[in-house]
Amino acid sequence: MIVAIDGPAASGKSTVARALAERLGAHYLDTGAMYRAVAHAALEHGIDLDDGAALTALASVSEIGFEHADDAPLPTAVLLDGADVTSAIRTPEVDAAVSAVAKDPGVRRALVAHQRALASGADVVVVEGRDIGTVVFPDAGLKVFLTASAEERARRRHVEMNERGRAVDSQVVLEELERRDTADSSRETSPLAAAPDAVHVDTTGLSIAEVVERIAALVEERVS
Ligand code: DC
Repeated sequence: MIVAIDGPAASGKSTVARALAERLGAHYLDTGAMYRAVAHAALEHGIDLDDGAALTALASVSEIGFEHADDAPLPTAVLLDGADVTSAIRTPEVDAAVSAVAKDPGVRRALVAHQRALASGADVVVVEGRDIGTVVFPDAGLKVFLTASAEERARRRHVEMNERGRAVDSQVVLEELERRDTADSSRETSPLAAAPDAVHVDTTGLSIAEVVERIAALVEERVS
């Protein structure tokens, strides 16, 4: 069974999807990390972010994978051509470049095919992204669209950045988040959107545990 978790940046997707995978003993696939890995590779190779053909070629030849300790649900590292890029894909440079990479139809085609292959064979997989319920797995057993107010999302992202030792102005964080939301929602190919049959969960004011329990109950309802 595929559990699709979509939603805008800092809606709580990663935290919730990871905790849910652990709670269910399911596999976990972070598709945002894959777009980030291509953005990182493009920056490393000095590829023009407007050069769709070069980005598509790069996404097609890049070997993106996840390292798992034994059969643990959560990956211990994101790999790009065998190198550990777990931290390198979370820099402000990659944050700024990734929307341009993710809007390229060729990049999306290559990564969607890879995402389908990575999720195949597992019993239950929690897949997190922007287009999982609409494009990657339109037949997912459960589709969840997570939301939270822009202010709440900016507050969470600000706390997260401070924890990583990055002093940034909270207004700048809010503006950057809104810029990325607009770019992700207005692109032509697979924009961020809720599937018509997605269950909407607003995480504003809810704890992670509450959100995870709510979704786990929905999964259990659907498998029984
Ligand atoms: O979830 P994230 O912030 O790590 O995602 C990074 C970027 O990748 C974000 O700008 C949206 C894009 N993305 C996408 O277009 N489709 C997905 N399935 C996952 C992420």
